[in-house]
Amino acid sequence: MGWSSWNSFSNTVDSSIVVEQANAMVSSGLKARGYEYVNIDEGWWLGSRDPNGNIVVDPKQWPALGPKDVPGDMSNITRYLHRLGLKAGIYTDVGKGGCSTWWPDLGPRVPNTGSEGHYDQDFLQFAKWGFDFVKVDWCGGFQEKLDPKTQYAQIALSIQRAEAATGHHLLYSICDWDNHEPWTWAPGIGGVEAAMWRTSGDIVLPVVANSPNSERKADFSKVLSNFDKGIHPEAEHTGYINDPDMLVVGMHGMSELQDQVEMSLWSISGAPLLIGADIKQLSSDSLSILMNPEVIAIDQDSLRLQGVQIPRANPALEVLAKRLAGDGRRAVVLFNKSASSARMSIAWTELGLDPSLPAKAKDVWSHKELGTYTSSFAAAVPAGAVVMIALTGTEGKSTRYRSTSQANSGSREFAFSGANSTTAFSAIQITYTNRTVDTHVVELAVNGKFETRIAFPPTGNGNRDGVITVEVPLLSSTNGNRIQFTDSAQKPITLGAITVLAGQL
Ligand code: GLA
Repeated sequence: MGWSSWNSFSNTVDSSIVVEQANAMVSSGLKARGYEYVNIDEGWWLGSRDPNGNIVVDPKQWPALGPKDVPGDMSNITRYLHRLGLKAGIYTDVGKGGCSTWWPDLGPRVPNTGSEGHYDQDFLQFAKWGFDFVKVDWCGGFQEKLDPKTQYAQIALSIQRAEAATGHHLLYSICDWDNHEPWTWAPGIGGVEAAMWRTSGDIVLPVVANSPNSERKADFSKVLSNFDKGIHPEAEHTGYINDPDMLVVGMHGMSELQDQVEMSLWSISGAPLLIGADIKQLSSDSLSILMNPEVIAIDQDSLRLQGVQIPRANPALEVLAKRLAGDGRRAVVLFNKSASSARMSIAWTELGLDPSLPAKAKDVWSHKELGTYTSSFAAAVPAGAVVMIALTGTEGKSTRYRSTSQANSGSREFAFSGANSTTAFSAIQITYTNRTVDTHVVELAVNGKFETRIAFPPTGNGNRDGVITVEVPLLSSTNGNRIQFTDSAQKPITLGAITVLAGQL
């Protein structure tokens, strides 16, 4: 959660903009609700290096902010952000040149704004400057026709070396849009324990006040198409996150209703909540949409799963549901994309809740307790609007399977029939122990098809089991299913059992 400079400041970002936005993040109350990253996007660096290849920035763009600061040192801004209790993000490109080399928005066009040839040096520099987050764009990679898996894996290793050298964590944000289906390779790339990756192109062209681009507007249809492209539930778990791009809540072109829809969709899918608007210009309506604590809690839920689409005959009546941490807890969005009001519903069986028992419903936008429902929930949803609810019911019946083979090669297989889902996804819980001190990344295949990589964090030296939940596509109950874990590094992880949870999510 945080803010990024791109959507509202384009390449004009500088120290005073970042300071003002950070101050506004605190004074508006956004920080108190969990917004913490202040991400400096493209435009911070004009491609200069010293004879040793170290990045050189403009001292006027990044002046001293405190008495002992040296102008042109990026740690001035990270120290400032850290003093406010915020985190700092920075930006570079996979290639030799970055986006401002190839497609500068407001300009100037400058060569060599990428990190190719300097991966170790640049990521070490970012960590030494004190940044906590790094977005790595693909403009140069695209122009040079590089292989994204290879480059992003090399960068993951450079990040890990920088972390080891400095003890400072850099959250890895991969930005090769949707060109190369990053959800199929980005989880665990290079052995990273957490990462986010963009799943679509840019949601808006930057709208910069008092510039030739001040009349641009956010387009709600792009919000919806970016959202649809970001749904890859099998890849979102244990700190790996699909990123449908920065929020356009509060930007020109968005109505209050559309702001609320975007916030609902991003939250049900556990997407990063990175504000793209100018925080100082946000209306009180937009701010209260961004700050709804119950909606934020759904986004940030500790199970870290993505919501899934529950199939409906009419795709204009979209139902999304998300499994939340804690027994019997679910979030549901009923989104009426049609032109007239509609009655929409969700059944407990779809959610994996016991259909014979009641569940409590709460409307998270109005903060109203709606009472108790049995077997399903229904509401009238106005055209273009959402109803978003949190449910607390009783878990439906889940089924536990022990592994059928544990080969020496580090591959383990669970074969079973009787998965309870007839649709796209079922959640499986994997019980494991990892008595080492490192997170281990293991490949997961379902019915012979590679699905994702799962990170298994250490479980300590005692007898404590760890549990990971992930959504996988299973076949309907009459067919057999095979779930296979391959640990190519043959790390000493013990997989106990897997439990297939009830429901279609
Ligand atoms: C790409 C990214 C954007 C932004 C710009 C900067 O288009 O997708 O999010 O970082 O580059 O030029």
